[in-house]
Amino acid sequence: MDQTSLTTALANLSLGTIRYFDTLGSTNSKAAAWAENDAPDLALVVANEQTEGRGRSGRKWFTPADAALAFSLVLRNQEAARSEVLSPAPIVRLTALGALAICQALRLDYNLPAVIKWPNDVLINQRKVAGVLAEALWTGDVLSAVILGIGINVAPESVPSDRELAFPATCLQDAISRPLSRLELLRAILIQMLKWRDLLNEPDFIQAWEDLLAYRGQSVEIISGDKDQYATQGELIGIDQLGCLKLRDQTGKMFTILSGSMRPLPVSKEAYQQ
Ligand code: BTN
Repeated sequence: MDQTSLTTALANLSLGTIRYFDTLGSTNSKAAAWAENDAPDLALVVANEQTEGRGRSGRKWFTPADAALAFSLVLRNQEAARSEVLSPAPIVRLTALGALAICQALRLDYNLPAVIKWPNDVLINQRKVAGVLAEALWTGDVLSAVILGIGINVAPESVPSDRELAFPATCLQDAISRPLSRLELLRAILIQMLKWRDLLNEPDFIQAWEDLLAYRGQSVEIISGDKDQYATQGELIGIDQLGCLKLRDQTGKMFTILSGSMRPLPVSKEAYQQ
């Protein structure tokens, strides 16, 4: 991968300027600095290697050279639409946009059973293969851009060992049992991203997101709060029209959660016996 092959592979997509780097701290940081300056809508930053890749909740994201796909898009306009209220809602929906685009590309172009572990992980066969990190840039009270960062484990070298991970991981090459082109993968994801971005506020978007949700009908726990101080358990029902996760507690009461980290709860012995 280099600047020329990247520009050629993405030539007929409606993107902004494309910048390639052999190595970077973080594509999200680079894209944010560019967005503070003059990056146009859909400006793209791609790196072959990240030395300080970031995941959600302050976690590190491992991106060794030649083995992974790491890129960030600068999103302006619709999402930044002079949103004068400091609201996390656009971040939730844009995180879903990234996860949905990855899943759809993996399903349509690679025939893989990819699903979304709310809010930002993409799983194949119960193992994480990709993550999304959406970060907002504010100018005063106005959302000026969102940086949508995507990291995908492509080759086995990109998969950290299980003991370093909160959730087991895999890579695409193991899932399809052959090497694959990162450029083709990037192109497939961006095609889905551009398609779904135009439908972001449509019921079809929520439906597609909900259809791909992992653990529906199962018991899950959501950890939330600044210090992960809240744990909420319930049966995962789906996604509401605002993009919140719908859960049902043991008494049958429905409630929604806007953000947090999810883990599936083990199925109890009683449940097997029923
Ligand atoms: C997560 O699962 O916690 C999100 C991982 C997001 C990683 C990507 S790699 C490209 C972009 N640059 C970063 O520093 N992080 C995101």
